[in-house]
Amino acid sequence: MSEIKFYNGENIPLELHKVRVVQKLHLVPIERRLEALQEGGFNTFRLSTKDVFLDMLTDSGTNAMSDNQMASMMQADDAYAGSQSFFRLQKAVEEVLGKKYFLPVHQGRAAENILSNAYVRKGNLVPMNYHFTTAMAHITQYGGKIAELLYDEAYVINSSHPFKGNMNIEKLEEVIKVQGSKNIPFIRMEASTNLIGGQPFSVQNLRDVRAIADKYNIRLVLDASLLGENAYLVIQREEEFKDSSMGEVMTLMTGLADIVYFSARKLSSSRGGGICTDSMDIYRELEALVPLFEGFLTYGGISVREIEAMAVGLYETLDETMISQSPDFIAYLVNALDAQGVPVVKPAGVLGAHVDAMKICEHIPQKEYPAGALAAALFLISGIRGMERGTMSNQRDEYGNETYADMELVRLAVPRRVFTLSQIKYVIDRMTWLYENRELIGGLRFVYEPPVLRFFMGGMEPVNDWPQKLIAKFKEDFGESL
Ligand code: F0G
Repeated sequence: MSEIKFYNGENIPLELHKVRVVQKLHLVPIERRLEALQEGGFNTFRLSTKDVFLDMLTDSGTNAMSDNQMASMMQADDAYAGSQSFFRLQKAVEEVLGKKYFLPVHQGRAAENILSNAYVRKGNLVPMNYHFTTAMAHITQYGGKIAELLYDEAYVINSSHPFKGNMNIEKLEEVIKVQGSKNIPFIRMEASTNLIGGQPFSVQNLRDVRAIADKYNIRLVLDASLLGENAYLVIQREEEFKDSSMGEVMTLMTGLADIVYFSARKLSSSRGGGICTDSMDIYRELEALVPLFEGFLTYGGISVREIEAMAVGLYETLDETMISQSPDFIAYLVNALDAQGVPVVKPAGVLGAHVDAMKICEHIPQKEYPAGALAAALFLISGIRGMERGTMSNQRDEYGNETYADMELVRLAVPRRVFTLSQIKYVIDRMTWLYENRELIGGLRFVYEPPVLRFFMGGMEPVNDWPQKLIAKFKEDFGESL
């Protein structure tokens, strides 16, 4: 953790774990990286890991598992119904998230499907601090719309605001008054707001949202996929909680919500997902949808081994030394990029470092997807795979028009306990070089655009021969180096 001081004064995050299982990585030559991009439609989702050196696409399902998680998988109880693994998980949910009733689902978006199916009707509006791609896709799939209600400071990239994920309380009340509470099936709060750079909300803000939900009698849904990291930053940044434990802050937050759902691929470094609540009525409203979409109520489409790993992983989120590793490495990466002049979302959040493609590629118009172009360029010159989080990740409006993203970001995910500090230094080095050669990066255009969640499988091509020019400059500066 960050409070471990070095005698020489250096401020670096120290790993409080040892590496006992390793996987060999391959850094392939730049010519092969160009071919890989061409084969994958210049879309980093479509790259094969055999061509990827540092996989910073996501933390979803890629956090390192602990020895105890791996061990637990060996004692899983295979049963279609009534598995002991499920009861261990249910107990973990109750002890860590403080909710009595639990429905397992195969991953986070399955929970979003079930909640939208149960509650969202045509013409409904779901207010939220900010959307996540799959959450929004499910709400719109069932005929609903979303309203994003952040404060203006959330959109300021170079900021020192500790809680950019806060919901704008005044706007929330205004929207409810205009729409009428009957038209609002639930309010959604996302912990560590993913798409604006992994930015947390404060407990006080959640209390304020709860007060509004009570006043207008609307359900409050908490997306807890990144709850552990949000709680860690609350302890770091919110005066009232500086001496609180992870468990105290986490149950305080879940206790304010009527429904908590999560992707276990993130929250508990496993696979799977879940929905939990203290209300028997809500449980009953959702229960029948689990066997319909997921699987029987004691496995929800998750393998029993993963259920065991999820239970242990949930308990491990209470360990601040485990949760702190990723945010502390991210803070190191963000601060180092910032010191090199590379525009990056500040303050450092969770999940990854988010570089500002709007600024870095200001010569590329949004219709040519600057963040997609920057992600492709970074892979080309380094073998580092990041993720576009900008206009390409947006969906077209109901008339088929492009909707330009508020921010054009490239996310460099730092999954828990996966990368070493020298690998992070390589990221800083190559990203700095790319920033200094940014005028060589050009735009992209779609050659294949799927109608739903287009960023996953969409195919692009460069608008001109900019990749070749970038390769030439790379060779000039790095010679034969990979
Ligand atoms: N909510 C949040 C805040 C998420 O970040 C994600 C997934 C989901 C819900 C959906 O969960 O993937 O298990 O279905 N985020 C991943 C990411 C995909 O890369 O950020 P899922």
